[in-house]
Amino acid sequence: MDTFIKNFASSVGNVVTVRGWLHNKRSSGAIIFLEIRDGSGFVQAIVAKQHVAPLVWEAAEQLTQESSLELTGTVSPHPKHAQLYELQVSSLIPIQIAEEYPIAKKEHGPDFLMDYRHLWLRSKRQWAILRLRDVIETAMHDYMHRELFIRTDSPIFTPNACEGTTTLFPVEYFDEGTAYLAQTGQLYIEAAIASVGRCYDFGPVFRNEKSKTKRHLAEFWMMDAEAAFVEHDENLRLQEGLVKFIVSSCMERCQEEFKLLERNPEPLRAIVEKPFTRLSYDETILRLRELGSDIKDGEDLGNDDEARLTKESDVPIFVEKWPKAIKSFYMKVDGIRPDRVLNADLIATEGAGEIIGGSQREENIDILLERIRHEGLPEKEYAWYLDTRRFGAVPHSGFGIGLERMVRWMAGVEHIRECIPFPRTITRLRP
Ligand code: 4AD
Ligand code: MG
Repeated sequence: MDTFIKNFASSVGNVVTVRGWLHNKRSSGAIIFLEIRDGSGFVQAIVAKQHVAPLVWEAAEQLTQESSLELTGTVSPHPKHAQLYELQVSSLIPIQIAEEYPIAKKEHGPDFLMDYRHLWLRSKRQWAILRLRDVIETAMHDYMHRELFIRTDSPIFTPNACEGTTTLFPVEYFDEGTAYLAQTGQLYIEAAIASVGRCYDFGPVFRNEKSKTKRHLAEFWMMDAEAAFVEHDENLRLQEGLVKFIVSSCMERCQEEFKLLERNPEPLRAIVEKPFTRLSYDETILRLRELGSDIKDGEDLGNDDEARLTKESDVPIFVEKWPKAIKSFYMKVDGIRPDRVLNADLIATEGAGEIIGGSQREENIDILLERIRHEGLPEKEYAWYLDTRRFGAVPHSGFGIGLERMVRWMAGVEHIRECIPFPRTITRLRP
């Protein structure tokens, strides 16, 4: 019977066939131990010379690392570890004998591994990250639907900026002039709320950021969410609910992945169980100064500031109500303090930094137009967006969560380049 390694628990004693790759091999005299990978998991397959036909033994001897193969054998419990299984091989068919594999067991530098990203993905660590990423994506979709959001995707070719004009990637677009790769789908899903009420998009977005950091990609995946009749406080409640849901999904489904990544899941418990902290921008500046930062009033938080802020905190911190001057044109001005906007950045724990940026949106067309002019944005490209304020404007809010930032935090990996299958950074376009 064909099966997957993941299903071995229910196949003990059965003869099964699996197909996959040779991850590792060692032998001791008359026994060859093959570590097999089939995508769903890893298993040790045992070829005993005295129990297999000579042809099978020869085939096992010839196998090189990463050779593809089909194996048939009996599933048995692992002699030492409960919940682990082995395959007692009866027959073996090589599919392709791999050439000498460039990624050896010795330590390689990150540049070498990134050059071989197409092969590096096969490592246990990368396998665990890919699976964690999938669990996080799935949790995002599940949570949004539970909260009655409808997936409404937004375009990638766009004529205008949403998050400032300095990080745009231009593309020649037929006879229509220059298009830009989307930085966010926000403006489009703001329009869609008047159709479906609550919506979200999910897809790649692009930032031409010259910064070379461990948390910036030039192409990353974002979920933008937008909801009619949701104001600032409710916006934060939705975000907190989403993060708690993602974290608890990871804890429920990714214990094996955490183990492979040597990620201690213990600190994640507080995130699910305790309410997140809320600090105003002003409180944040004061606290950061107490903590030794030289940040000045009116400045954006640097990487160090974000790490400092959450160092002693076991839950993420919403930093809310930022100075209007350093935030995007669409954010709603705070009725109490007109130099502040009704926004929040969510700063994750364990030094993971900002994972969500969100705000209530300005629904007053005059204020919005004034801000578009003030920023020197090409007014005519926003005409359609302003229509949403002309025909049934409502209070509304939304946010964007960076998928790779979330993966990086949950996986506890240092560099964001490991959190997407094929990263695009300032210095990397290949493979
Ligand atoms: O804070 P940002 O720029 O917010 C927006 O784009 C809003 N339009 C979202 C919205 O309200 N719909 O980006 C949102 C999130 C950040 O908090 C961060 O997690 C991630 O996107 N992000 C990046 N991730 C990887 N590499 C980059 N260069 C990123 N820039 C932002
Ligand atoms: Mg931001």
